[in-house]
Amino acid sequence: MSAVLVAVASVKGSPGVTTLCVALAACWPDPAGVVVVEADPAGGDVAMRFGLAQSPGLFSLAAATRGGVTPLGSRVENAQLLWRHAQVLPGDVPVVASPPDAGRARGALAVLASPEPAGRLAPGPLLAAAEHPGAVLVADCGRVEPESPAMPLLRSADVLVLLSGAHADDLAHLARRVPEIGAWSRRPVLLLADRDAHRGHSIAAVARELGVAPLARVPFDPRGAAVLSGRRSTLRWHHSGPGRSLLGQSAREIAELLAPRGPDPSAGRRSDRAGRRRTARSANGSNGPDVAGRAS
Ligand SMILES: Nc1ncnc2c1ncn2[C@@H]1O[C@H](COP(=O)(O)OP(=O)(O)OP(=O)(O)O)[C@@H](O)[C@H]1O
Ligand SMILES: [Mg+2]
Repeated sequence: MSAVLVAVASVKGSPGVTTLCVALAACWPDPAGVVVVEADPAGGDVAMRFGLAQSPGLFSLAAATRGGVTPLGSRVENAQLLWRHAQVLPGDVPVVASPPDAGRARGALAVLASPEPAGRLAPGPLLAAAEHPGAVLVADCGRVEPESPAMPLLRSADVLVLLSGAHADDLAHLARRVPEIGAWSRRPVLLLADRDAHRGHSIAAVARELGVAPLARVPFDPRGAAVLSGRRSTLRWHHSGPGRSLLGQSAREIAELLAPRGPDPSAGRRSDRAGRRRTARSANGSNGPDVAGRAS
């Protein structure tokens, strides 16, 4: 059984990364082993939105890791640790929720996302869990910044999903960042978010403009998004949740495209790790792989 790490991020604005992460996890083709990890250095939203307890979550996971609950923990111990700090959203979607406070979130991520935390022989719980057979980590990495503590997740991801609006100002920022971000990942994927009734540029126009073909559009669906953002009751999750909404339908199609079909991607990720650390150290990331989906 393969393991998958899907890192989702934005360049600018709030195009719906957190909502998409919950939707992808809820709609993943094989739901067993799927977990949303709020790895946004700006702090989390899911706990507040869904009325979850403050703990367990990313902060308690970091505390357990720091406190030596698994001193020099093995890969298996580190992977299992993650699951002990998850809570469950409606639809049985497990989530490791981040504290809303950016300082606490960044502190936790500095410990958890590190490829090899100081003094440890195995990767930290997030990357260890992403190597566990059958695990699917959907990581909400917030906005991409080179100094983000979520960078090791972005660089290690099997798929790096960049979600962006498709208006002229969005494209101006994308054009500047896409070559750099595309070099961070083995499989960078661009998704366009329709954030209002005015959708902005078409997929074909964006492909022409950027030289990178977006994989899909995420539709503007306030009702579907409201359910996925905890603004509807659990009952609504079943009536108009991701199983029925336009946004859920789109997330399912996108998840089908992102889910691996070939050989175990985590095997490649393990062997890539040393190379990726070298890439991480390079100032401009120019020795990374080509941007996937480049338009011809
Ligand atoms: N496809 C969509 N259609 C309509 N509304 C959406 C959609 N996706 C998200 N929203 C709404 O937009 C708001 C922001 O969404 P979300 O928190 O997912 O964005 P984000 O990119 O994670 O933002 P941030 O950068 O602040 O973390 C929420 O109120 C959410 O319900
Ligand atoms: Mg968010």
